[in-house]
Parts: sequence; structure tokens; C-alpha cells
Amino acid sequence: MADKKGGRLGILSAGGDCPGINAVLRAAVKTALLDYDMEVIGFKDGFEGLVNDNSQILDYEAVSGILTEGGTILGTSNIANPWRWPEVNENGEVEFSDVSHKVVENFHKHKLDGLIVIGGDGTMNVSMKFVEQDVPIVGVPKTIDNDLNATDYTFGFYTAVGIATEAIDRIHSTAESHHRAMIIELMGRYAGWLTLYSGVAGGADIILIPEMPYSLSEIARVVERRNKHNRRFTIVVVAEGAREEGGEMVVKRTVSKSFDPVRLGGVGNKLAADIEELTGVEARVTVLGHLQRGGTPCPFDRLLATRYGSEAARLAAEGKYGRIVSLQGDEVTHRPMSEAVASLKLVPPDHPLIIAARSVGSSFGTKDA
Ligand code: F6P
Repeated sequence: MADKKGGRLGILSAGGDCPGINAVLRAAVKTALLDYDMEVIGFKDGFEGLVNDNSQILDYEAVSGILTEGGTILGTSNIANPWRWPEVNENGEVEFSDVSHKVVENFHKHKLDGLIVIGGDGTMNVSMKFVEQDVPIVGVPKTIDNDLNATDYTFGFYTAVGIATEAIDRIHSTAESHHRAMIIELMGRYAGWLTLYSGVAGGADIILIPEMPYSLSEIARVVERRNKHNRRFTIVVVAEGAREEGGEMVVKRTVSKSFDPVRLGGVGNKLAADIEELTGVEARVTVLGHLQRGGTPCPFDRLLATRYGSEAARLAAEGKYGRIVSLQGDEVTHRPMSEAVASLKLVPPDHPLIIAARSVGSSFGTKDA
């Protein structure tokens, strides 16, 4: 049992949600209360809660029974950058201003000793800027994309892998019955972890990730080869950020208020049209979208989120700020937050799963296999 110390912690969840945020909140709050006798204040809707001073006390009761719940009881928001905060002026136009001082003021108004921030890449970049201004923050790595540096896995990732894998399994039977090319478009803007893991787990024939631009002629060759060998269907999994060699990502729209304004979507439809044109094989598209981020966390994510939440509270109670909790092998530890934001964690071309997938005949749509 840790030394009781007293004091007050703030906590918030920012950026896109994912399964396991509530499990982190529960673990952080219970650890702070039980092990350190600290009070916890939850800020609503990410940094909006600190900018607008919108908060609630998170006592034991508030976090009881939420381990298995998807989403976040605190709410979240993509409006994440207090140095470029959108506000609608009297003409109805969006104007951006620096409201970062409000975050610092409200932090002190609540007499906080530290702040736990649950977020992905964008949120950690914002947190790092506050750390540089001496705001004491501990980060918790969250995203279904698993693209955050300084940790082996973010929580939420394995739940999304499970959902995507089940979808691929289900698509298999209908693909086979109708002799079609079935394309499953998954999330993942810059990193293909989710597509790679679920593609391999679901036995996809073609796996297309942002890190490995694809060749249409190679994809057509694989589809035709399968047909010739009496495997008259093809399962293609594609990350929304995948693109053709020499081509661009398929952007659905840009959202001016968001930290990362680009919203992708449509690569699956483009591929289906291309495959039909090049091979004559009928193609259909399934876009899993936000299904991948919803619902209850899988057991691995419940365990990881619980360990992350407790470790974050421990670090904060011990005054170890500017750190992000991290999974290294089997151990939950912590790393400098600067490491988490240095660059995105992308799939390396020689990743063991890529090698394993190639060994069982999956193609990455590139000329080399
Ligand atoms: O970063 C997580 C993520 O799910 C990405 O994979 C995806 O591109 C994006 O969020 C979608 O964002 P939104 O929910 O704002 O549409």
C-alpha cells in the first residue's frame, strides 16, 4: 500500500474515443482515492472542459460499474488545440484564437497538483506544449490506430482488431457464395496496424496499408490468379489511408475545427471500381467506420487500461510528470512524453506479421509480393 498523500488530480479524455477509456478512468480514480487519498476532478469533453471550466468530481461511486462500458463518461472532443481554438463570431464565421491561458488558469483555480490526459497523437502534442509550460501532466496512450510511439500497444487497439476480424470472417462466406471480390475498408489514417493485424487474423488475400503504396496491376493479378486456381473470391482489407503508388490518399472532407482536419474515406469504393474494370470480377465494399471504435473493450484492453490508469495515478501521486504510461513487453512502465510525440509509430516493411502474411500467401498489393 502506497503512502497516503492527499491532494487533487484532474483527468480528461480527448480526441477520438475508443473502448477502454472508462476502464482507465475507473482505475486512475480508484488508485488515487484508495492508495493516495487524492481527490479527482474530471473535465468534460477533452480540453474543452478545462478551457470552459466544465468539470465534475469523480468519486468512487462515479466510476463504479464502468469497467466494461465503451465510450467515455467524461465525453471527448476533437477540438483539441487551445492555441488555435475555434469560436463562431457574430457573422457566423469560425475564428481561431489562443485560449491556452484559460487551461492554466482553470488548472490553478481547481488547486490541482497534476493532470492525467488520456489521448492519442494530437492530444499528446497539445499536452507536451503544456508540459513545456510547467503544467504537470501524465499521459495515457489511447487510440485504435496503435500509432503512438513510446508504447508497444495503445488500449482500444485489440478491441478494434477483434471487431474487424469478425467482420472479415463474416464477409468470407458471402464472398465465396457469390464469387466476388469483397473489400473491407478499415480505419487507420497514417498507420496500418489495425488493417495488418485483422487482415492476418482474418486470412485476407490482399492487405493494403498506408505505409506500402499499392499497385493496381498487382491487385488485379492476384484476383485473376485466384480465379484461375478455382478460388473464385478475394478478400481485400484496406486501411482508409492506403493509396496507390504515385497517388494520393482519398479524402472525404476536411473539418476545420479539428486538430487533424483531414477525414479520410472512399478508398474502398475506388478500389472496387478499379478491380471490376481491370478484372471483370464483381466487387462489393463494406466500410466498418465507427463500429470499430464502439462498444465494450475486449479483455486485453480492460487489463491494459486498468494497468495504465493505476500507473498514471501512481506517477501523478509521486510527482513524475511529463511522462506517458507505456507497455514494454509485459511490463507497464513510463516514458518521456517527448518520445511519444517525436514521430508516429508506423508499420515497418519488415515487420514479423508482414513476413508471416507473405509466407501464407497474402499479398500487400506491391510488386514484390
Ligand atoms: O485516430 C482514430 C481514428 O479512429 C482514425 O483511425 C480515423 O481516421 C479517425 O479517428 C476518425 O475520426 P472521426 O471520429 O473524427 O471521424
